[in-house]
Amino acid sequence: KTRIFSGVKPTGHLTLGNYLGAMRRWADEDQHRADALFCVVDLHALTVEHDPARVRRLSRQAATLLLAVGLDPERCTVFVQSQVAEHARLSYLMECTATDGEMRRMIAYKEKATGERARGGSVRLSLLTYPALMAADILAYGTHEVPVGEDQAQHLELTRDLAVRFNQRYGPTFVVPKATHPQVAARVMDLTEPTSKMGKSNGTTAGIVYLLDEADVVRKKVMRAVTDAGRDVVYDRAERPGVANLLDVLAACTGGEPAELAGAYTSYGALKKDTAEAVVELLRPVRERHAELATDGGYVDSVLRAGADRAREMARPRVDAAYRAVGLLPG
Ligand code: TYM
Repeated sequence: KTRIFSGVKPTGHLTLGNYLGAMRRWADEDQHRADALFCVVDLHALTVEHDPARVRRLSRQAATLLLAVGLDPERCTVFVQSQVAEHARLSYLMECTATDGEMRRMIAYKEKATGERARGGSVRLSLLTYPALMAADILAYGTHEVPVGEDQAQHLELTRDLAVRFNQRYGPTFVVPKATHPQVAARVMDLTEPTSKMGKSNGTTAGIVYLLDEADVVRKKVMRAVTDAGRDVVYDRAERPGVANLLDVLAACTGGEPAELAGAYTSYGALKKDTAEAVVELLRPVRERHAELATDGGYVDSVLRAGADRAREMARPRVDAAYRAVGLLPG
């Protein structure tokens, strides 16, 4: 059976980008057609300056949201990365497989490191080695497919390179995984700055729709989205990024085609209004289910505990095999 793995990092409140780019497919498709694992990758949240209480809160919220979007713990494995030691164990072997040059070429690293230094801060070493841990997350489970947004494509290419290299050096150990992306909205852009990705840790929040935003807040944010010069509604991601982003979001919500939808509108106002309502309707059940689940922390914890037990069992034999393959003595 196809093995699927993906994860979400608890560095901020989850966004419409996370949902359309990744989580929606996990719930609607992936868990039904494959043996799937979905992980709150909390170790990754420690690669930038963090507040322990906030990471704890965001991790629990992310786990609750995974269930709220429809992941069914009877069908798939939902767990928290730090509770399965195999991730950190295998990450070290990935650091011994990758080169520092490969890590430094990662766009996500360059952007975050530059930003951090510009603010006068320092860069944690784990920010550089981040892709080694991410590769470990994926490879530990013999993963075939990794459903992610477009921003993760480079990390996935590196993961493939590391799997191939490891197998060549030490013998067949890992499945070489591939990324899958949604057909529309693989890269949702910030509403106020449509040339940058809608990211949960962006500096300003006006352009970010959070999954738990109230309906009126969602409406306001979409109505205030930056559109482009010109008045006609055309789908052109390079020349009209603001309008194209709204069309992408509307298409993702309604199941339409962005370019086709463009033809149905003669004004930006009407496009925004329909997009706002579509997003509100899309997120309503998620918010309602989250509210229910949030009152029962015991249930979420028990799902995570069972998930970690299952994940550990799945990962251990392959990680043990990798340890032996590189020449470490079996325990
Ligand atoms: P993270 O937490 O930034 O995002 C979680 C998922 O949401 C997708 N995504 C988006 N898709 C479309 N448009 C957007 N604006 C947008 N923003 C986020 C991401 O592509 C991702 O699929 N490095 C990963 C976490 C990770 C991981 C893994 C993922 C760690 N180990 C192993 C898969 C497999 C990250 O930071 O995702």
